[in-house]
Amino acid sequence: MSREMRGTASACSNIALIKYWGKADPADNIPLNGSVSMTLSDAITTTTVVWDPSLSQDEIYLDGERILDHRGLRISRFLDRIRADWYRMHARVASMNSFPAGTGIASSASGFAALATAAFAAFGEGLPEQTELTRWARRGSGSGCRSIHGGFVEWIGGTDDASSFSRQLCPADHWDLRDLVVLVSSAPKAISSSEGHRIAGRHPFMAARQAELPLCMLATKGAIASRDFGTLGAIVEHEALEVQGIMMSGQPCALYMQPATLALLHAVRSWREDDGLPVYFTLDAGPNVHILCEGRDAPAVRERIEALVPGLAILENRPGSPVRVHDAHLL
Ligand code: DP6
Repeated sequence: MSREMRGTASACSNIALIKYWGKADPADNIPLNGSVSMTLSDAITTTTVVWDPSLSQDEIYLDGERILDHRGLRISRFLDRIRADWYRMHARVASMNSFPAGTGIASSASGFAALATAAFAAFGEGLPEQTELTRWARRGSGSGCRSIHGGFVEWIGGTDDASSFSRQLCPADHWDLRDLVVLVSSAPKAISSSEGHRIAGRHPFMAARQAELPLCMLATKGAIASRDFGTLGAIVEHEALEVQGIMMSGQPCALYMQPATLALLHAVRSWREDDGLPVYFTLDAGPNVHILCEGRDAPAVRERIEALVPGLAILENRPGSPVRVHDAHLL
């Protein structure tokens, strides 16, 4: 191969309803447990990969800026795995997020789903079969495997590289669920998710969590299938707080919540319990609050959020689309 090969793909981020927290095998991102997510329509990463035989190293650009730190290294290590199996050349990679950089929205899920897809699209030999593509995204970032599919997605945790992949539970039009992400803070996290996964792996509460999760996964999938928002919301809120409990009581401790995070959690519970508004929250490894409701209640929920925390940006998502390949390129 002596010519450049170019491919572009975009992928939506996702919010975990049942979380991936703790790895059985960090080299391949094999999780301690399966997880369930909703793909997020409005948090999109678009990535172009140009495999170029004239390059002596990878060149990586995120939101227009050349990246030379650990983020670039992580992308290069991922490209190494593809290079080992395919063409041995370096790449120019450009990636843009639809949401402002540094908002704390997880971009590694959409980022690695788009990167894996663009890297294979560039070869022009057809993409790997979809389940295999979810394994590729997972090798880059665990949660990335759920961003290959649209709608509602299960990551079957598995025990090794072959048995760990994602599948769609229901397509995006199954249920008009909304995730209003309230951007509480964009300050860099004191403890990265990679470090958080390591700390969780040695946490004494993890055994109890793992014992409960299979039943919890079943109930979550049942609630999604039957569009039972009350059941889903109760599970999701409990799950979010359980994982925050493990984060906060780890060694070292990861205290992601900020005062505005806690104000929002209390408000959501009061809107639901005192005012009868069907609304629930979840959290990831950060201070932003994901507020879940059904489409018909979204305007009322948004109004209440704006009144409670004026000035904080809100990114509203519906169930999003699967990863897509484009003919137009960033490079
Ligand atoms: C709290 O997928 O970011 O968002 O595999 O190391 O890239 P790596 O971790 P990552 O972890 C996500 C953790 C989470 C929960 C979730 O998305 O399931």
